[in-house]
Amino acid sequence: MPETLLVDQWDIDAAERTIREHGGEKIAAFIAEPVMGVGGLVPPPAGYFERIKELAKEFGFLVIADEVVTAFGRLGTWTASERFNLEPDMITFAKGITSGYLPLGGVIVAPSVSSQFYAGNDAPIFHQGLTYSGHATVAAVALKNLEIIERENLLGRVRELEPVLVEELEQLRHHPGVKDVRHIGLMGGVDLADGVSGLDVVAVLEGRGVHLRNLPNNILQISPPFIVTAEEIRTIVRGIRDALDTVHGR
Ligand SMILES: Cc1ncc(COP(=O)(O)O)c(C=O)c1O
Repeated sequence: MPETLLVDQWDIDAAERTIREHGGEKIAAFIAEPVMGVGGLVPPPAGYFERIKELAKEFGFLVIADEVVTAFGRLGTWTASERFNLEPDMITFAKGITSGYLPLGGVIVAPSVSSQFYAGNDAPIFHQGLTYSGHATVAAVALKNLEIIERENLLGRVRELEPVLVEELEQLRHHPGVKDVRHIGLMGGVDLADGVSGLDVVAVLEGRGVHLRNLPNNILQISPPFIVTAEEIRTIVRGIRDALDTVHGR
């Protein structure tokens, strides 16, 4: 994208260098997923967003959290920003707000940003309109979905299940077919060793009733629904171990 600078994943020194080299005051916004999703299921290193927040304050740019994957409970909090104390100026969201039952995406905007558009008659107008903006049916589905998440305490359930996923995934860490395992909330990633094909692992798992996604960089993605049981998490991860034994032993 023109006028967009990219920095390496979670490299705070590279981010700071890039911001300073290009003149921080010319930067409009910094945007990142709080946990990298398709980029490999990678949580942020400690202190990353604290430093970004300091730089944002120094130069006056906005911080935007892309929470399309993480918002509405995936990390056991309503937003990942809440879990990491990120306090972004804007949050983009989609999937979790309706649990995918109907398509809805949106942006949450902090008062410091939205108030600019209501500051009297000379306030700037943000011209935008989508064919299906403010669609009543999907809004009703989103509200009902949020009500169910609250009623069934699904955020609490995610927090309860997180240690189960951690315990199971950690047992894969020293498998010869595994380079790294990563986890946070109900998100897990199994980074496969060189020479082990994620597609082969996924194919073996399919035959055993476990449906997983292999990300482009050969990382298995685990992102179960919040109603998953502890036993089902064990089935998924032990299934991965058995499939790895099969594929790696070939
Ligand atoms: C983190 C993240 N941001 C944005 C998107 C794209 O969202 P949308 O399809 O609502 O534009 C995706 C899609 O998977 C995503 O994972």
